Amino acid sequence: MSGLLLAVLWQLLYLCQAAPGYSNGFFYHDITNGNGNGEIHFNGVKLIVETTESSIFAAQGGNVTLPCRYHYQPELQSPRRTRVKWSWVPALGGRELDVLAAIGHRHRTFGAFQGRVRLLQDPPGEASLVMGELRTSDAGRYRCEVIDGLEDESAVVDLELRGVVFPYQPSRGRYRMNFSSAQKACEEQGAMLATFDQLFSAWEEGLDWCNAGWLADGTVQYPITASRTPCGGQDLAPGVRSYGARHRRLHLYDAFCFSPSLHGEVYFLQHPQKLNFTEAVQACEEDGSEIARVGQLYVAWRFLGLDHCDAGWLADGSLRYPVSTPRPNCGLQRPGVRSLGFPTQHQKYGVYCFRAP
Ligand SMILES: *[C@@H]1O[C@H](CO)[C@@H](O)[C@H](O)[C@H]1NC(C)=O
Ligand SMILES: *[C@@H]1O[C@H](CO)[C@@H](O)[C@H](O)[C@H]1NC(C)=O
Ligand SMILES: *[C@@H]1O[C@H](CO)[C@@H](O)[C@H](O)[C@H]1NC(C)=O
Repeated sequence: MSGLLLAVLWQLLYLCQAAPGYSNGFFYHDITNGNGNGEIHFNGVKLIVETTESSIFAAQGGNVTLPCRYHYQPELQSPRRTRVKWSWVPALGGRELDVLAAIGHRHRTFGAFQGRVRLLQDPPGEASLVMGELRTSDAGRYRCEVIDGLEDESAVVDLELRGVVFPYQPSRGRYRMNFSSAQKACEEQGAMLATFDQLFSAWEEGLDWCNAGWLADGTVQYPITASRTPCGGQDLAPGVRSYGARHRRLHLYDAFCFSPSLHGEVYFLQHPQKLNFTEAVQACEEDGSEIARVGQLYVAWRFLGLDHCDAGWLADGSLRYPVSTPRPNCGLQRPGVRSLGFPTQHQKYGVYCFRAP
């Protein structure tokens, strides 16, 4: 049914409101539209729209279900035709974007969401949104709005793309990157420059790093959980310390990258020999995968508990290994990804590979 027809129908329903009431305080009036679907109009019933969770975490490239349900109080005896509309609410204000609109079992999807979203409608009252092929730009707040003519109620749910923040220093050494080379370095690791919020969350989770790095907004900051002398001094409180906005071309720092969680597997390649860098790249290819990037190793460590005490080559020519459970002789006191720098490429080590699903 077209939106216009429905609008006309609702107009009719409004007009019918003048019908006499029943003694229970509600009044009902049945009208039948062309295809025989009954529409009931009534007063005194409340429409309630709810979401079971306020934040949902998902991985880039994956699927997610944003929960939304509605019901009436008191409960209805017969189902009503409702419209459901999902929209995306920009974090910084501005116009909401339509995601999906449904009338009965017909629905339309909009813009970048076309073909990637669908509505769950079973059992009655279900209005959850399933989104696929998640992109970084999908993160944000979604509004689930249920409209049944008289009532229009909504609930919001935040979609957060899971990821991990890591400090990055190129092979040239400490403080060698202007803003654009920092952006590029993160991209090469399957990541992007972290936002302040992402760095702050990482700090809350324990990230402590004594080198300042670029963030996405062009500021330079570093997270400290344990104050110490070589790192601003004992007297400076723990926190994310900021140098403020720096000159994007003239000033050189490290970078804080954010790697969104990805579908795929990172593993230490079981191989009979140790490998130089060229051999390592080849060995992953021969295993049907590719040499892992730094961001992928961090994601596997953070979200999949990857724990392996052998140093392995990564795509940028660095040597690292992930530790989830610190233990003697494994080089880390706390869970983390240990970096052994950028050895010369003829040296022989293991390798971490990444296999896409
Ligand atoms: C996402 O959903 C589609 C169908 O709805 C399914 O084919 C696909 O395997 C799902 N992908 C993931 C990563 O769950
Ligand atoms: C940033 O540094 C890179 C590499 O050192 C250089 O090629 C590039 O021109 C610099 N970018 C700007 C905007 O200065
Ligand atoms: C790695 O070893 C191969 C021989 O197996 C050699 O051809 C190649 O040049 C070596 N690469 C490096 C970077 O040393």
